[in-house]
Amino acid sequence: MARRCGGATSRFAGEISQSAGKSATSAVWLCFCLLFPSVAEAGLYTASDQVLLLSPDNVEALLINSTAAILAEFYASWCGHCIAFSPVYKSLARDIKEWKPAVDLAAIDCAAEENRKVCTAFGIRAYPTIKFFHAYSKADSTGQSFRTSTHDVRVLRHMIIDKLENHEEPWPPACPPLEPTSQAEIDSFFETSNVQHLALIFEDATSYIGREVTLDLLQFENVAVRRVLSTEDGLVTKLGVTEFPSCYLYSPEGNFTKLKVNIEARAFYSYALQCLPGVRRSGKPPPVAAGFIANNPQEPWKPFNRSRVYMADLESTLHHSLRVELAAHTVVKGGDLTSLREYVSVLAKYFPGRPVVVNLLKSLNAWLQNQTGEEISYEALREILDNAAQSPNIALPEGERWVGCQGSQPHFRRYPCGMWSLFHVLTVQAKEAGGTDPKEVLSAMRSYVRSFFGCRACAEHFEIMAEESLVEVNTLSSAVLWLWSRHNRVNNRLAGALSEDPDFPKLQWPSPEMCPACHSAKDNGDHRWNQQQVLPFLVSYFSSSSVLADHLEDESQILAKQREKHALLSQQRVERKAREALDSMTQPLPSQSTVQDEEEEEEEEEEGPQDQGEQGGERAAADEMQRKTPDTDPWGKPQVVVGRGRRQVHRKPRIVGLRIPEVPEDIVDLDSFVNQHYKAKALQGAAATRVKQRSLQRKEERAPGPVFGLGPDLDAGLGMVGLQPLEADFELDAGQRGTRLQKRELTGRRFAGEAELTRWVSVLSIGFSKVDISLCVILYFLSSMCLLAMYLFFKNRLRLRRGKVALP
Ligand SMILES: Cc1cc2nc3c(=O)[nH]c(=O)nc-3n(C[C@H](O)[C@H](O)[C@H](O)COP(=O)(O)OP(=O)(O)OC[C@H]3O[C@@H](n4cnc5c(N)ncnc54)[C@H](O)[C@@H]3O)c2cc1C
Ligand SMILES: *[C@@H]1O[C@H](CO)[C@@H](O)[C@H](O)[C@H]1NC(C)=O
Ligand SMILES: *[C@@H]1O[C@H](CO)[C@@H](O)[C@H](O)[C@H]1NC(C)=O
Repeated sequence: MARRCGGATSRFAGEISQSAGKSATSAVWLCFCLLFPSVAEAGLYTASDQVLLLSPDNVEALLINSTAAILAEFYASWCGHCIAFSPVYKSLARDIKEWKPAVDLAAIDCAAEENRKVCTAFGIRAYPTIKFFHAYSKADSTGQSFRTSTHDVRVLRHMIIDKLENHEEPWPPACPPLEPTSQAEIDSFFETSNVQHLALIFEDATSYIGREVTLDLLQFENVAVRRVLSTEDGLVTKLGVTEFPSCYLYSPEGNFTKLKVNIEARAFYSYALQCLPGVRRSGKPPPVAAGFIANNPQEPWKPFNRSRVYMADLESTLHHSLRVELAAHTVVKGGDLTSLREYVSVLAKYFPGRPVVVNLLKSLNAWLQNQTGEEISYEALREILDNAAQSPNIALPEGERWVGCQGSQPHFRRYPCGMWSLFHVLTVQAKEAGGTDPKEVLSAMRSYVRSFFGCRACAEHFEIMAEESLVEVNTLSSAVLWLWSRHNRVNNRLAGALSEDPDFPKLQWPSPEMCPACHSAKDNGDHRWNQQQVLPFLVSYFSSSSVLADHLEDESQILAKQREKHALLSQQRVERKAREALDSMTQPLPSQSTVQDEEEEEEEEEEGPQDQGEQGGERAAADEMQRKTPDTDPWGKPQVVVGRGRRQVHRKPRIVGLRIPEVPEDIVDLDSFVNQHYKAKALQGAAATRVKQRSLQRKEERAPGPVFGLGPDLDAGLGMVGLQPLEADFELDAGQRGTRLQKRELTGRRFAGEAELTRWVSVLSIGFSKVDISLCVILYFLSSMCLLAMYLFFKNRLRLRRGKVALP
């Protein structure tokens, strides 16, 4: 029984704050009203409190002729009693959330100027005043009085039940019968009803449990609840009931079994009944049997243990957060940058991942802390994330592989589920590691959610909770408990929401089944979390040793993929550069370029309009070099290759002087890269340089030239091999380039074969005899270096393709 559910009933929420002491809560609340006037200005309740916020615009629609009865609080936000009562009212709202279709809570701030008329119309003179509005109240109704000074949620709940029981006709249609049942009714029950389960709660006449559970289950199908009084002798003897209260399940066949619960109390009955097989929230599609759920045909359902945390979910969360969610911010600055720093710092400190992932988080953190500027570009961050420097044993797996966070539909669970899990794990890790700042992880979570979490409504709700009570967190243990209790509060609010996966109902967590010791009951029978037990449970549940490694991508596979990606990316970059260079090179000689441009225009027409942005041929080349090409996605997926291939096909005929038939595809880029680089330098020096006049036909005749002493230019040449965006190199001065060179050397990616280098230098040096040597000799060396690097790179790549030699 009860296998489907992983939590307890949604009404346990919020008792934490109460058990912490009502006065403390009120005091904190009061402080908040003073500290955050914006909260007070908006009244004492917010949209996340599950209280209808009345206003002149909606008051008629909500109170008059409503299908549910409504309890409305008229308060003034400045009044001390109202402020003290508001946490109680919110608690009540969470407690009877499941009753909403029958009875709902509302509130209106009479201190707000715009609400004055409404409050006057209802005859309100003192605050707070609570009124009970029947279902289908008439337009002239001012509600029944609901006078009480209690701050006891239980008493308020019982008063509401009394009001409902005495409800005049018409009865709120969603409200189930609340009166005790009889033997006769039960005997005929299954003749008139096709409900699968009938739950009988045996209790004394003064007990409210039966009615409470009946209302708790009113939104659930396939189950009916009736109270049976202990004086109903026939049934009591038939079932052999000795304990009051107790709950029995009556089946259509006439069998009955006692419902097994830890404690004979409302919350435990409701939880157990909500989790019975076949019982589900009304209006929700039936849950699909786990074995048959498939997110999509390529992604088969992975069986998992619902009481465990999976590293695959945590890694997927990191991927989504850092590579997808953050990517929406092309530039991160100001408060967002601080948030990002906090978040990554906490990850680097506490993420209990495999060494490769932890290494990556640490290098990301180190990089972020080193950034002294006002802002960082996502592109730069992305290079660190993807380990563009190719440091050994550093990687964050790409892609999402949800396991414990799989949903029955692709739009359920996944990332937000992973986000919660991640932060639960981090709070527990911080506690285990004995961090110094108790709020460190929670502040980081708050900042991240505020700055980046894609679900803006979620972020607002979370911010409200944080603003309200994060101050209470003063130990590492209380941080763990705070997040747990706030998560339960969110679960309570979202129970029955559209975003709830019917196969993973939003219940209070952990369930009595998962952690029996976590649950207990107060003297009055109300549920109470046993925090002394919850804490060790959370610590063990989210500890690094209990995180399962099932379904993780293999480490060597991740590293291999990373290498492949870099190889592909550098190739794409080089080719793009080459293409740009080619475009710009077509300009200087009018006689030639006219012809070429005409050719190009024809080509572009064939290629279609999407390529028009690339018609850079007419523009000044220097401009081209400095401009950050907007249409470039250096992290694009392999389909970019298709476009590249097409361009090559078109442009190849325009390349003159090809002399290396062994590598026909890549030579285009090699040559044009030289052109481009040459061009950039030439334009900086003398715009009139006649680049086109060089004769490549003669290059084989040239003798080897000098090689060394070209640090910056060599570096610029190496830059194209995928390690840094090439654009930047053109703008750097020699000193900066030197620094960059050092960085790259650290990556261990070297270019061997000095003999090859000299050969290439000689090959390329010919054409420059016709131009101003004093200007061009440096450019010439530079070009040579680039060409060398290109050649070696593509040689390497070809080898890689053939699978003979792996990259270093
Ligand atoms: C900060 C934040 C705010 C959000 N706010 C909203 C919102 O306002 N509206 C909205 O529609 N959605 C919101 N979401 C999403 C929503 O909370 C769920 O994450 C999402 O609906 C997926 O639900 P789930 O069934 O996977 O369980 P989740 O609630 O995501 O929980 C994930 C897992 O954590 C465990 N767990 C559950 N409860 C607890 C607990 N109390 N303590 C410790 N572990 C627990 C369970 O194993 C569960 O499977 C928010 C998410 C986050 C991270
Ligand atoms: C009240 O609602 C019922 C049905 O919900 C409708 O038939 C009736 O006309 C409404 N009365 C008024 C006064 O709006
Ligand atoms: C799931 O994990 C829990 C806790 O570790 C364990 O007790 C239980 O046996 C596991 N269930 C399955 C089906 O493996």
